[in-house]
Amino acid sequence: MHVSLLLCLLSKAQAITIQVPRNTVTAPVQGSALFSVDITCIGAPTIRWMFSSVNRQQSIAAWVLGGSANVTQMYEGRVQTHPNGSLTISNLRLQDSGYYIVTVTEMSGSSKDMGLVLTVTEHTETELQPL
Ligand SMILES: *[C@@H]1O[C@H](CO)[C@@H](O)[C@H](O)[C@H]1NC(C)=O
Ligand SMILES: *[C@@H]1O[C@H](CO)[C@@H](O)[C@H](O)[C@H]1NC(C)=O
Repeated sequence: MHVSLLLCLLSKAQAITIQVPRNTVTAPVQGSALFSVDITCIGAPTIRWMFSSVNRQQSIAAWVLGGSANVTQMYEGRVQTHPNGSLTISNLRLQDSGYYIVTVTEMSGSSKDMGLVLTVTEHTETELQPL
């Protein structure tokens, strides 16, 4: 059993909490970004990641914590889901810049959202000008 599931089972008295060590992520084109979240809740929740920008909204992945993930076709091959609910997107493009929203839904139906901001920079690290 995953550690994150144990945490969920042990914290029955609590409502859902989502903690993010960093809510802004910056990564270069073709690099990868980890959206790290720490979730506590009751039972095995459903995790959903969505992308949102001015122009579009797009579902990225959804899974029941501990189970296999449904990854949206356009993200297949560049998305990795982690047992703690976190998400990694690799092979980044400029269009990936925007708002990433995670929704945690418990079996009971109650849910909570958290948003993170990704900025994809045009230059790879080797091309950065010295400060
Ligand atoms: C979640 O798991 C990923 C992959 O193992 C790890 O890199 C990340 O630090 C974890 N996040 C938290 C908040 O524990
Ligand atoms: C994953 O996809 C299957 C088949 O489309 C669907 O039945 C299931 O509910 C989905 N799971 C989640 C967590 O969205």
